[in-house]
Amino acid sequence: MVTRRADLSVSGLTVDLGSGPSRARPLENLSFTGGDGRLVVVCAPSGRGKTTLLSVLAGLLIPTQGSINFAGRELALSSRREMLQHRRHCVGLVFQSFNLIASLDAVENVMAPLLMTGVRQSVARRRAAELLSGMGLDHRLHHRPGSLSGGEQQRVAIARGVVGDPPLFLADEPTAHLDQAQVGAVLTLLRSLVRPGRLVLVATHDARVVQVADDVVDLTAPC
Ligand SMILES: Nc1ncnc2c1ncn2[C@@H]1O[C@H](COP(=O)(O)OP(=O)(O)OP(=O)(O)O)[C@@H](O)[C@H]1O
Ligand SMILES: [Mg+2]
Repeated sequence: MVTRRADLSVSGLTVDLGSGPSRARPLENLSFTGGDGRLVVVCAPSGRGKTTLLSVLAGLLIPTQGSINFAGRELALSSRREMLQHRRHCVGLVFQSFNLIASLDAVENVMAPLLMTGVRQSVARRRAAELLSGMGLDHRLHHRPGSLSGGEQQRVAIARGVVGDPPLFLADEPTAHLDQAQVGAVLTLLRSLVRPGRLVLVATHDARVVQVADDVVDLTAPC
């Protein structure tokens, strides 16, 4: 089996959103690269297009212009089916607001993406529990999100994003609403996800995250 390098190249990316008076262009002519086995931090103040960029990289939003090449494939030229494949098999995404399912416990939340790709229930459960235990959450496996701290919820969300072993792991503001101790644990965890065959890209306005970066993409002014 040929393993593709998780190299990312973004070139001339422009994104327009909305229409009429609510029209916005959060990204204009953005270019950067990110290499396999590296942690790239995309840094910008609020409202400068971080979530927009992650949505495009995840294949959830189609850009107005520009090229995104990941692992040798051009996203802009992909068919709908290929985009779906990209979302399902290439991308792990941690949303800005965790987006955990309130009625499911931690293990069930982490199992969910595996079940969607056809992994057997017992295998998915075991893999999710092992991953969460490795993240120091073995005593929280059967807690629902409402009874987890913000830092614990963030670790569950990260586990859910990475459980399918995606070559592109995207995290949107993973330190927002966390205290200093929780931030340290989440940054250590994000750093531990970096390995050959994977690119980790974190969007943030938090200068503390820059400390763990291999490369920094500054969308506008310094953080
Ligand atoms: N659907 C939309 N229609 C019109 N404008 C939008 C839409 N979604 C986002 N925007 C605008 O695009 C800009 C960038 O939004 P985005 O959410 O990407 O910023 P951000 O850097 O992630 O901000 P934050 O740090 O607050 O999360 C903002 O000005 C926002 O108001
Ligand atoms: Mg955002």
